[in-house]
Amino acid sequence: MELTIRPRRLRGNESIRRLCRETRLSPDSLIYPIFVDESLNGRRPIPALEGQYHYGLDTVAEAVEECLAAGVGRCILFGLPARKDAQGSSAWDEKGVIQEAIRAIKKAYPDFYVITDVCMCEYTDHGHCGILCGEQVDNDKTLDVLARTALSHAQAGADMVAPSDMMDGRVAAIRAALDGHGFQNVPIMSYSAKYASAFYGPFREAAGSAPSFGDRKGYQMDPHNRREALKECALDVEEGADILMVKPALAYLDVIRECSDAFDLPMCAYSVSGEYAMIKAASAAGLIDEHKAMCESAVSVFRAGADMLITYYAKELAQAIRKGEIG
Ligand code: PBG
Repeated sequence: MELTIRPRRLRGNESIRRLCRETRLSPDSLIYPIFVDESLNGRRPIPALEGQYHYGLDTVAEAVEECLAAGVGRCILFGLPARKDAQGSSAWDEKGVIQEAIRAIKKAYPDFYVITDVCMCEYTDHGHCGILCGEQVDNDKTLDVLARTALSHAQAGADMVAPSDMMDGRVAAIRAALDGHGFQNVPIMSYSAKYASAFYGPFREAAGSAPSFGDRKGYQMDPHNRREALKECALDVEEGADILMVKPALAYLDVIRECSDAFDLPMCAYSVSGEYAMIKAASAAGLIDEHKAMCESAVSVFRAGADMLITYYAKELAQAIRKGEIG
């Protein structure tokens, strides 16, 4: 057979395959989500997210220790407050769960990089991501509480803040609050294109943040929309975001590709709770190999153009990268 071009030449063994790889992964690109429960002592398994835990303020440093042991140097914090109200006021409490968690982590591991999720849904008694006006979330009133919350995180020592609420103008509001108090150097990672997704189910159980009525379609994006993601990213760039994000990851690889091509900022993807739970459930049912499915999914997100990934598998992935199984 006269075949001049034989792509299989570059697939002959592991060495040549690794040489020709187009996508490289690093533990440095991984961010691990940590759930901190103000009312908890010790740690407690999260039933909806097998292998994940709620940590108390007394054990959150252990979560970080495990990250470091696996080669993960960055986390994003989610809080479960002891009390909730209509405004979500414990979100910006100087002694709130996230603020105390940041202090506990920084005391034990000053160099560990702490990102905080900035949103109201875990702190409001109605579970929506902002201040209600009737049954709607009032955009402009919410900006004020988001900015206060982000500022309180920075004051407690957060390295970066990540607003996930999807209010219009929140990046500008947070930037102004940070800059006004001397936090010019705290970056904002914006959940720019965050879709109203069915894949957040296990997280809402874990964070106790399901809305008590209605849904989040009035602020999170419609999964049918692609151009709108570009618009959301462009607005965040204008408002001063430092890092953009697309969320979820696996069902939105096209959006990751387009947004990472269109903008110069680093692009984060969030492989959300439902993506993790699907792999766990399918492997528990004997249908797929968990480790391989985890690796392949993560590779796909970077291949799509993400520069970094938030994932519940961060520790396992870091180890797989270190062992040369991927990347
Ligand atoms: C808070 C927030 C959510 C997630 C991250 N930040 C839930 C939501 O928007 O309902 C989801 C993360 C996941 O599913 O892993 N707004």
